[in-house]
Amino acid sequence: MTDLNLQEIHDTLVKVAHEAGRMILAANPTDIATGTKLNSADIVTETDKAVEALVSSRLSSAYPTFAFVGEETYQPGMRITPSPTFIVDPIDGTTNFVHGFPEACISLGLAVDRRPAIGVIYNPYQDLLYTAIRGRGAFATQGAFSWGLDGGKGRRRQLPLSRNPAPLGALDTCLVATEWGNSRDGDNYAVKTEVFKRLCASKETGGAMVHSIRSMGSAALNLCAVAAGTLDLYWEGGCWAWDVCAGWAILAEAGGIVVDGNPGNWNPEIDGRKYLAVRGAPSGQKEVVQEFWGVVGDGRMVYES
Ligand code: IPD
Ligand code: CA
Repeated sequence: MTDLNLQEIHDTLVKVAHEAGRMILAANPTDIATGTKLNSADIVTETDKAVEALVSSRLSSAYPTFAFVGEETYQPGMRITPSPTFIVDPIDGTTNFVHGFPEACISLGLAVDRRPAIGVIYNPYQDLLYTAIRGRGAFATQGAFSWGLDGGKGRRRQLPLSRNPAPLGALDTCLVATEWGNSRDGDNYAVKTEVFKRLCASKETGGAMVHSIRSMGSAALNLCAVAAGTLDLYWEGGCWAWDVCAGWAILAEAGGIVVDGNPGNWNPEIDGRKYLAVRGAPSGQKEVVQEFWGVVGDGRMVYES
């Protein structure tokens, strides 16, 4: 880790993210071939594959010794090792992309020792770039690229957006992100839908009565919103390392934490596939995690990694 030039790697990732963003914006999803993987809600387009090919080629020329794990070229059994590894989702929020709903991004992470070290997430529709390098803070930059001033005159703000974030209260004060995912039956789906119900239900009926639930349709952008502090929590099971690596790096630098989506484990693995992300706060993180795990109760999500 000490011999890696994280700043230089970060700068390369930002350039690649902007190039990929241009490619995403140039694609008209209604005109491109869309296929499905596991089922009708598990969508992949030509653009997902083309963006991954571009990213992989740029990164392998710049850093030929680093490993690369990307959603579209992942093969079952591939493992993330402690070596420096680029973990990439060419389009996170593909469903939004095909519908033209402007919440999709490219998510570029670097993991070292199987821990997120750099995160670069770019939503080209909003020209909104989220970045972090381990130990050097997290930032959101809006409007730099559309003016042709890459990294220049965009509005750059440190995350969380508040310089004085409020303590985290109980769940009944929280805005929570969850996602439906693309697996819509079986035990995991039963656990998820039960938790959604319990989170929202009134106190009188035994629920946690959260302020509400949001689903951005992109794990990476959910994590960025938690890093920004505009969402308090994000809970999901079923997503993959490429959905969370970059966002996790950004959230950690914004003072947030990621714990296991199932109760009990405060130090989940990057490929653990079930996560609860909590925004930065001067107090209340541990308490709200415990309360959330209480809502999950005896339910357990089980995913192969
Ligand atoms: C998906 C999105 C979605 C999340 C799924 C991911 P994709 O990624 O992040 O929000 O619920 O778990 O697989 O398919 O858009 O890359
Ligand atoms: Ca994807």
